[in-house]
Amino acid sequence: MDMNGKTVFITGSTDGVGRYVALRLAAAGAGVLIHGRDVARAKLLSDEIKRAGGSEPAFYQADLSSLADVRELAAAVLADNQRIDVFVSNAGIGSQNEGPARQISRDGHELRFAVNYLAGFLLARLLLPRLKASAPSRIVNVASLGQHPIDFDDVMITKGYSGSRAYAQSKLSQIMFTIDLAEELKGSGVTVNSLHPATYMNTTMVRAGGITPMSTVEQGGDAILHLVLGDDVTDKSGLFFNGMNEMRANPQAYDAAARKRLRDLSLKLTGLPAA
Ligand SMILES: NC(=O)c1ccc[n+]([C@@H]2O[C@H](COP(=O)([O-])OP(=O)(O)OC[C@H]3O[C@@H](n4cnc5c(N)ncnc54)[C@H](OP(=O)(O)O)[C@@H]3O)[C@@H](O)[C@H]2O)c1
Repeated sequence: MDMNGKTVFITGSTDGVGRYVALRLAAAGAGVLIHGRDVARAKLLSDEIKRAGGSEPAFYQADLSSLADVRELAAAVLADNQRIDVFVSNAGIGSQNEGPARQISRDGHELRFAVNYLAGFLLARLLLPRLKASAPSRIVNVASLGQHPIDFDDVMITKGYSGSRAYAQSKLSQIMFTIDLAEELKGSGVTVNSLHPATYMNTTMVRAGGITPMSTVEQGGDAILHLVLGDDVTDKSGLFFNGMNEMRANPQAYDAAARKRLRDLSLKLTGLPAA
């Protein structure tokens, strides 16, 4: 895909792999909409993009642990941009950010489910009319190989909580949403795919987990860029990639009844009308 004149919105682009993707896409000529929680980190990125010859990115500040903030973020992006060619849902927290204890979002939902999955679900749904109007367009959900099936009797993991289970449940939720949304978007010109970018990249969330990094942000970022830019994936949708290669996800992702339960729950939790 030629990025000149294209608008790309990347959540969680003030740090880690999202930051690398924003830099690369701006250098390729895209208008980049960056997002994070910290104005100073956004300013540093904006300066770096401009120094490299890219156009100044628009910065959107929002805490994705609040659904009200997510709605405001979507409204601001829609108000400012006539087109959205690519939406990269990348923001996330790892299994151990801010410690091993169970945490909840501002709306009272289990925090990893809320930030890593529900916020991206709501953003995608709110941005969808603009993505459709800009078709051909793409959604890329940055998920993980870490996947844990959802226990629909305890989605908020009130029993048997661990950070890694919460993280992995949120990542499988993203993949289930990807498959579900791809079915809905057939024939619309909007594709949606998910991926595991790379294993233990050297980023804040990996360091917060006390894990020794095994790969670079460039490796994971290039896998994300493949789904954003690649001509070979133009007509591919509803897939999960491990790096550059298509791969099967956890079996629950292919259970249509489970995906419907997740969709119905997500619509209810985000206050969207039932499908
Ligand atoms: N690192 C890995 O090895 C790895 C492996 C598989 C998948 N992934 C996935 O890759 C994506 C990016 O991760 P990363 O490793 O680059 O992590 P990172 O360096 O920790 O960056 C995370 C980004 O998400 C944003 N974010 C976190 N919580 C937020 C919140 N409540 N509201 C708004 N923004 C929030 C952060 O914003 P601030 O700048 O404001 O903190 C930051 O920009 C995640 O979805 C992660 O699950 C990573």
